[in-house]
Amino acid sequence: MSLPTVPGAPHIAYRNQQLCVDQVPLADLARRHGTPLFVYSETAIRDALAAYQRPLAGRKARIFYAMKANSTLAVLQLLAQAGCGFDIVSGGELERVIAAGAPASTVIFSGVGKTRAEMRRALELGIACFNIESEAELEVLNAVAVSMDTRAPVSIRVNPNVDPKTHPYISTGLKGNKFGIAHERTVATYRRAADLPGIRVAGIDCHIGSQITQEAPYLDAMDRLLDLVQAIEAEGIRIDHLDFGGGLGIDYNGDQPPAADVLWTRLLAKLDARGFGDRMLMLEPGRSLVGNAGVCVTEVLYLKPGEQKNFCIVDAAMNDLPRPAMYQAFHAIVPVQPRPGDTLTWEVVGPVCESGDWLGHERALALESGDLLAVLSAGAYCMSMASNYNSRGRAAEVLVQGEQSRLIRARESIADQLRNELPAALAGR
Ligand code: LLP
Repeated sequence: MSLPTVPGAPHIAYRNQQLCVDQVPLADLARRHGTPLFVYSETAIRDALAAYQRPLAGRKARIFYAMKANSTLAVLQLLAQAGCGFDIVSGGELERVIAAGAPASTVIFSGVGKTRAEMRRALELGIACFNIESEAELEVLNAVAVSMDTRAPVSIRVNPNVDPKTHPYISTGLKGNKFGIAHERTVATYRRAADLPGIRVAGIDCHIGSQITQEAPYLDAMDRLLDLVQAIEAEGIRIDHLDFGGGLGIDYNGDQPPAADVLWTRLLAKLDARGFGDRMLMLEPGRSLVGNAGVCVTEVLYLKPGEQKNFCIVDAAMNDLPRPAMYQAFHAIVPVQPRPGDTLTWEVVGPVCESGDWLGHERALALESGDLLAVLSAGAYCMSMASNYNSRGRAAEVLVQGEQSRLIRARESIADQLRNELPAALAGR
């Protein structure tokens, strides 16, 4: 029997007809922890990080993991121990970094809507940098910092107006996006920042989108950013660090993004050629560190063959894996223990009461109810985007290394879900 191809990390593969993460069969983990279950390979995460670290060795550089991709504490701890700082977008993410035991001094704070309270807390804890996304935000941060008798280190997020050639919902560096400060306003905004008593100009940053699979948008964005650095420094304002954001894509369905080390070797050559090779470099990768390192294991509940479509109803749903419903995203779906027999074409769907609750269209699979399926490339933007829709508890998570596995998040119980709710009779009194 030929086995399905498994895109992504080599750490997720068939051994003796069993889909394994590292050496651990997923069927064993499903038996022990139930389904739906997210399983991550620690080795795959470390290898993905190493691909960024290799070309940066010997340079002033730091990787700030964009933790929105997967903010589970154990994942943060693993990446902190491996030398990462964190790119955060909320006060909640800041508290997660602290709970993971990582220092606030390794945090940079992105996002278009930081509140005063979030700014205050980040200043108290002493984060490395605020990535400023509007002129109005710069003024508010200045006021907060002055009220605390301190100066906030800032980098201004520039919108370079480069098309990353990805899904419109995850493209962020075009003029029509809500992110960053327009290219034309950048120098003036730096002039203002340099005059403000509560602001210390530290760097410049850009982030053009996500799931980028080509080199050209990165090379263009770097050129545009460096042109701006020259213009800003001509005004006597020094830019100490250059932050190029994240966005590198992964293999969902035979996608072939450049490898991080290949891409960065290219980009560093450009940086050196333009005379900026000695600046502190900062990167904010999310998906490319964790995406291909994870799978979601789900059980087939019911098979419902029909005249027009055959439905395979599984116990994972859009609340666990929101990417197909939100972005029409493709995730490969493969059997955990492939069975011989005829394949049929299935619509793989969840139990949530919405027609949009699908995980995969037209998948050729040989199935019986009770089988386990693995939804691949599920390490990024799945658990971190999971919800309780239909009052479904969020899934459990397991981290695997070699032959070892560890539960890193218990399955959410109904008591967990009800904890903050008050009965109607008392709520209003
Ligand atoms: N830095 C900033 C400022 C960002 O906004 C993002 C992602 C990143 C870094 C990390 O990008 P990455 O390396 O992960 O591509 N939920 C969507 C993706 C949203 C990305 C938002 N920003 C999805 O599931 O495809």
